[in-house]
Amino acid sequence: MTSFSTEQRDALLATAREAASRAYAPYSKFHVGAALLMADGSVVTGANVENASYGLSLCAETVAVASILSSETRGRLEAVAVTGGAPGAPGEGDTVSPCGRCRQILNEIAQLGGTDPLVWCDGKDGVIEMRLSELLPHAFGPANLL
Ligand code: THU
Repeated sequence: MTSFSTEQRDALLATAREAASRAYAPYSKFHVGAALLMADGSVVTGANVENASYGLSLCAETVAVASILSSETRGRLEAVAVTGGAPGAPGEGDTVSPCGRCRQILNEIAQLGGTDPLVWCDGKDGVIEMRLSELLPHAFGPANLL
């Protein structure tokens, strides 16, 4: 499995933070950014995109995965950085880890490329690092169907 330096981790988190600044989140005001690092070194970002019909809102991780899966080169997902929050609101600075739906969405691309990506989430208490398989054990995915 690929290992990463603290500098690489922090750079990906910084890219996720930058992506969060482009969130469209006028309802929750909770801006989330995701940065996905592929094995070829490319980085794809996403930010949450909300909708006036609240339940249709898209999470940052989902937007990033959709971008990759709809591109010509899908590649191998090595690492994911997620960051965000609601400035001035309760929970400011709390760690944002991928929601349940996003874990499943991330698993799709991870299984397709045969990786178990590292997931980094930062917050005021530091960075949490987990493998996607820890966030979503015994995952159901393309391996079950393709
Ligand atoms: N959100 C994400 O973008 N990713 C997550 O993993 C958790 C939640 C977004 C969805 C919604 O726009 C806002 O955060 C508040 O739930």
